[in-house]
Amino acid sequence: MAAKASAQVISMRGAGYYSSNTVGAKAVIDKAGGLVADALAAMTIKPSKAPFSVCDYGAADGGTSLDLMRRVAKIVRAGAGDRPIALTYTDLPHNDFSALFRLTQGLLGDQAKKPLAETPGLYIFGSGTSFYRQIVPDGTLNLGFSATAMHWLSKRPGLIADHVQAVGASPEEQALFRKQAMADWETILLHRARELAPGGKLVLANFCADEKGRYLGHTGGVNMFDEFARHWRALRQKGRITDAEYANATFPQFYKTPDEFAAPFRDKGSKVAKAGLRLDHISTAVTKCPYAADFRKHGDAATFARAYVPTLRSWSETVFAGALDPKRSPQERAAIVDAFYGAYEADVAKSPEGHAMDYVHCFMVMTRNGGR
Ligand SMILES: C[S@@+](CC[C@H](N)C(=O)[O-])C[C@H]1O[C@@H](n2cnc3c(N)ncnc32)[C@H](O)[C@@H]1O
Repeated sequence: MAAKASAQVISMRGAGYYSSNTVGAKAVIDKAGGLVADALAAMTIKPSKAPFSVCDYGAADGGTSLDLMRRVAKIVRAGAGDRPIALTYTDLPHNDFSALFRLTQGLLGDQAKKPLAETPGLYIFGSGTSFYRQIVPDGTLNLGFSATAMHWLSKRPGLIADHVQAVGASPEEQALFRKQAMADWETILLHRARELAPGGKLVLANFCADEKGRYLGHTGGVNMFDEFARHWRALRQKGRITDAEYANATFPQFYKTPDEFAAPFRDKGSKVAKAGLRLDHISTAVTKCPYAADFRKHGDAATFARAYVPTLRSWSETVFAGALDPKRSPQERAAIVDAFYGAYEADVAKSPEGHAMDYVHCFMVMTRNGGR
């Protein structure tokens, strides 16, 4: 399939739907909490009038990282008294920042917890700027964090003829996506290297293809991306979508291996190494799908399907909806997308065994040289 630059718009579902349907993503962030705490402990944060600056890159509605940010504030307070904390949430411009602000202000979400915005001396900002650009000024960032976001490429380097994600692409198609992903990774790191203050740290939890070849939704049971492709193909076979719409559903994503993540750091002559960014830690971990775990407890297939498919929908819907011909009416597009996820849900309800969206992450900690 010929390479085609993409003007595709991706986003998570809004109005707080994202964080209320992604319990697993929160579990990943909580898992990264130990690395964040260690990174902060290694920094010797001193009292100062200058804010301690934190960024959450690709935060979606911010709901999944609220507890982590509470933890960060507590650690900074313990080390630096009432030093102000500037917390900038970043995501793409069309992200539902209103839901993010409502969640952080306590107007949405868990009402039992004190709103993050009520933390004294914590100032919340939002930036609708891609992490493929510089977001905060040079040398001002103390802690950068990002979870489950940097597998989204800056652009789609081509279409995948008979699958929806690079994991099911032909070797030639896959090579195009890998090349884009490696160039994008360098761009992300070079911008962060400029943003970080000397001694500042970056803690990232990125989707990956791990040492055993596992990746999101492919850890031994039914392969989730193959299922997406199968149900999308079925719509084409029924004549519900066109060939062009079928091919157009290509996720602009790539899952790098730990070696690919580490490559810019292992080459001492790389732009990233020269920019002063050092890799302190890299590891991988699988986070079990909470919906499949619940199913093992309650055993009700329909309940499992009703809970499981919405979590898939929360992050994948724009790719399928965006693949449809814009000449179709919004109602028609919505009906096709509903039919697509409806078929997936019916299938899971009928044969639930093996369905699970286990998360496979590469956890990394980096330091900007120059501090202690
Ligand atoms: C799966 S959500 C993760 C949200 C949250 N960090 C978490 O772990 O629960 C991925 C987020 O990355 C955002 N994203 C994708 N590409 C991005 C980019 N180039 N710049 C900033 N955010 C991006 C998406 O809009 C989405 O909100």
